[in-house]
Amino acid sequence: MILSKIIPGVAHSFLYFGFLLLFFSTELFSMHHLRPISERINMHQIRRVAMATMTASRFDYPKQEAEAPKILRYGDPKLYEPSLPFDLPKEMPLVHEVLEQMKLATKGMGNVGLAAPQIGILKQLVMFAVPAEHPRYKTDGVAQPMRIMINPHYKHLSDEKNLEWEGCLSVPGMMGQVKRYTHIECTYIDLEGVKQSFNASNFHARVVQHELDHLRGILFPLLVENRHMLGFTEAIMESEEFKKSRGF
Ligand code: NI
Repeated sequence: MILSKIIPGVAHSFLYFGFLLLFFSTELFSMHHLRPISERINMHQIRRVAMATMTASRFDYPKQEAEAPKILRYGDPKLYEPSLPFDLPKEMPLVHEVLEQMKLATKGMGNVGLAAPQIGILKQLVMFAVPAEHPRYKTDGVAQPMRIMINPHYKHLSDEKNLEWEGCLSVPGMMGQVKRYTHIECTYIDLEGVKQSFNASNFHARVVQHELDHLRGILFPLLVENRHMLGFTEAIMESEEFKKSRGF
């Protein structure tokens, strides 16, 4: 246990030592005018990369089990296709089969949302739970238990929208700022075949809109209006823009 803590520490010290050597050697070269100044290595950039490497493990995404159905990634054409509704009650057994696959795909991942097309099944089924707190997202401070929705729809209850960060299991390691309706009403069919509806606001509403977007082939990066507000999680979480939005 102690060794596992010491070894990465020692490795990082060597990494820094290497960078120091590199820094001084380039300084000496430039002093002797052997290289133009523009070719000198930007130490600030190197330090940032080194820090990102060291802190990357803090942003690790949950891993899928080896035998789990594969979660498709951003770029896979199947993610951009619309999903078909289930023909109920005839297709209720199919709902359960698809749900089983979705649960397998996210096994051990904790509080997550997943839509059937994310595992390549173009049917209108989503599952999600909303955490009360999250290191990356601006939550409502209230958890919502797992909800499984067949053939869901939503409508906005007012024109109010908010701009916040979100991520997706199909876009691992990245975040983007997306404008979403603040207040919505969602209707769906539950596993008993009964029509349900609920109102959601803020983060809860954001999660619902994100998941339902998957059913019409839309992934969050396609909705990021300011393209500077889409990037790698570790870089964004270090940015002033992100810290400001969290009141740091
Ligand atoms: Ni998603």
